[in-house]
Amino acid sequence: MKVLIYKTAEEVKAQAARRLLMSVQRTPQSVLGLATGGTMEDVYAELVKQTHRHAASWAQVTTFNLDEYWGIPIDSPASYRTYMNHHLFNHINVDLDATHIPPSEGENPDLAAAQYEARISGAGGIDLQLLGIGVNGHIGFNEPTSSLASKTRLKTLTQSTRDANRRFFDTMEQVPRYALTVGIGTIMASEECLLVATGSSKAPAVQAMIEGPLAASCPASALQMHQKVTVMLDEDAARDLELRSYYQLVHPDGQESAVSDG
Ligand code: PGA
Repeated sequence: MKVLIYKTAEEVKAQAARRLLMSVQRTPQSVLGLATGGTMEDVYAELVKQTHRHAASWAQVTTFNLDEYWGIPIDSPASYRTYMNHHLFNHINVDLDATHIPPSEGENPDLAAAQYEARISGAGGIDLQLLGIGVNGHIGFNEPTSSLASKTRLKTLTQSTRDANRRFFDTMEQVPRYALTVGIGTIMASEECLLVATGSSKAPAVQAMIEGPLAASCPASALQMHQKVTVMLDEDAARDLELRSYYQLVHPDGQESAVSDG
């Protein structure tokens, strides 16, 4: 794992946006895996700015989002489709038909999940998967004790996740209990992952992910088995890392080193 530690959250988000844009510029037909959440709002704001600054084109890019709430209308203000259109897709020249988000409703979630997984495979798999991390160590909505080999499926959200996302809804009752999420196995099949975390509330989960045992109790720890993962952290999110000075030695100020150091 490449662990890059920056002084501020702003720097992390600018660097993450830069890395995403580089992928689009290098490979115009990139297949990107995208994430939602508070952290990504600033990443996308920066990505929109950088896209315009560099006159970059998203015309041939395909995207697959990690997850969507289950049981709310897709055009609800709290859906991840609404979030993605609002924070990113409406501001760049991506083809909306090439932006995929799991459905939020339907008769048969198992079939919808299988179809989503097949669509990812049909696109040739994910080239670069953007990830956040929950305070409980989830990636996507793969809550603790998710199968580390899981594929896209319906998951029951933990109370901690519902509490964390309460701010996006008017009342607690409105916070969905389920989500369709790509699995940990789906994430592991991506070519490369970029995980972004900022703030001290993420410090314990970040430590468990990078330095803890590989365990379903911290789903993000599965990334220890992925061949190419970059983790971008601010100093607060890096607070609990035992080998922090080693990561800073390898990548001073979050700079990528000449050696691959995966
Ligand atoms: P956050 O969510 O960016 O809102 O903290 C991250 C996540 O739960 O994956």
